[in-house]
This record gives sequence, C-alpha cells and structure tokens, in this order.
Amino acid sequence: MDILEAMERRHSVRQYLDKPIPSDVRERLQGEIDACNREGELHLQLVFDEPAAFSGTMAHYGKFSGVQNYIAVVGKKAAGLEERAGYYGERMVLLSQQLGLNTCWVALTFSKRRARFTLDDGEKLVLVIALGYGATQGAPHRSKPMPQLTHCSGPMPDWFRRGAEYAMLAPTAVNQQKFLLELTGDRTVRATSPRRSLARLDLGIVKYHFEQAAGPENFTWE
Ligand SMILES: Cc1cc2nc3c(=O)[nH]c(=O)nc-3n(C[C@H](O)[C@H](O)[C@H](O)COP(=O)(O)O)c2cc1C
Repeated sequence: MDILEAMERRHSVRQYLDKPIPSDVRERLQGEIDACNREGELHLQLVFDEPAAFSGTMAHYGKFSGVQNYIAVVGKKAAGLEERAGYYGERMVLLSQQLGLNTCWVALTFSKRRARFTLDDGEKLVLVIALGYGATQGAPHRSKPMPQLTHCSGPMPDWFRRGAEYAMLAPTAVNQQKFLLELTGDRTVRATSPRRSLARLDLGIVKYHFEQAAGPENFTWE
C-alpha cells in the first residue's frame, strides 16, 4: 500500500480487536518514531499493551473499546509544537495504516491521568493516537467542498488539486476542517487555520497530506 492509498483507506477507528501487535511491526514503528523525534524535535512515545488510558468513563463516553496501544504525543512547550505534533503524528498514522493497523487521534476521550508516558523538563503531553487492529476499518468522513478549503486566483495547477484532494481526506478534530490552502505564487502555498490548539494540530496533519499528494518537489510552503 503506497502513501496515497493509506490516506484513502485511513478512517478513525475506535473499536479494536484483542490482537497484539507483532514484534517486527513494533520495530518498524519504533524506527519511524525515532526519525520523527529527530526531525521534528519531538518526544513521541510508543506505548504497547497498556489498556488503562482507555478504560475510564471518558473513553467509554467516546465509544472506544479494546484500545491497548497508543502513541503519546509529547514535546517541549514552544511555539509551533501543535503543528509539528500534527505533521509528525500523521506520518506515524499513515505508516501504521500501511502496516495494516488502524488509528484514531484522541485529544479528549481518554484518561491523561492513567496514560503511561514520560515528560522531560519543559515538555507536555499534547494528545495521544490510539493504535491497533480495528474491529472495523471505519468510514469516510463528510468533507466540505474544495472551494471552501482552497483559494487560487488563477487556474488551479494539477499538483495543487491533487494535494487539496488528499488534504480533504485528513482527519481533523470533530471533522471541523477549519483550514485554508491558498496558492500565493507559481509554486508557493500558504496554509492557515485559526490559532486554537486543535486547529493548529489539524493544520500540521493537513500539511502532511497535502505535501505527500502534491509532491514536495512541486512547491514550497509560504
Ligand atoms: C486533533 C484531533 C483530535 C481528535 N480528538 C478526538 C477525541 O478526543 N475523541 C474522538 O473520538 N475522536 C477524536 N478525533 C477524531 C476525529 O473525530 C476524526 O478524525 C474526524 O471526525 C474525521 O474522521 P476520520 O478520521 O474518520 O476521517 C480527533 C481528531 C483530531 C485530528
């Protein structure tokens, strides 16, 4: 499965099977986590076989069941932390999909108190990403139409359209899709969202999708 297929097939999954992740898959995930942490200056942590974070009332209320693995998204408190968390977290989500796993970004419906993660000086837990073999594959979300999410003053280049189509498949908090992708020069793109932290996370996720589909060689971010 290539990365575009991974974006097409990925949907949030909240119910998981009682099926452990095999060691070779764990190693692939860990290798990618290490790369994301280096490149993104983050402290993402893989947590396996730990049901407590998703066993409280919040998780139940959020319709989660069987979650035993997750990625704790941790980083130093700094400007841009949320966007980087979104960007590199989605890289992990899409690799997970390619490895046959399912995922769900979770900001609210888990127990932060029971979750297992470590914080170094100045760091905070941004959110977690549930991980495992889904009881289902989830379902496609409804999307706003492309004209509400993009702006090009002239004709839309093919690479931009492809980027935008895949950006529309990106997960966003409560499916809010509060982002705007604008073509600001021949090959420059501006991506904006409201300043709220979940919208900033969404923006990082959306930028990762856009970049993978548009081809990073075709444009630069403004
Ligand atoms: C930053 C972020 C936070 C999220 N937090 C939660 C959450 O707390 N609980 C939950 O059930 N889903 C959560 N989601 C999942 C979204 O509801 C889901 O991505 C959205 O409805 C789009 O559906 P899809 O992921 O299936 O495409 C979150 C998604 C994102 C991107």
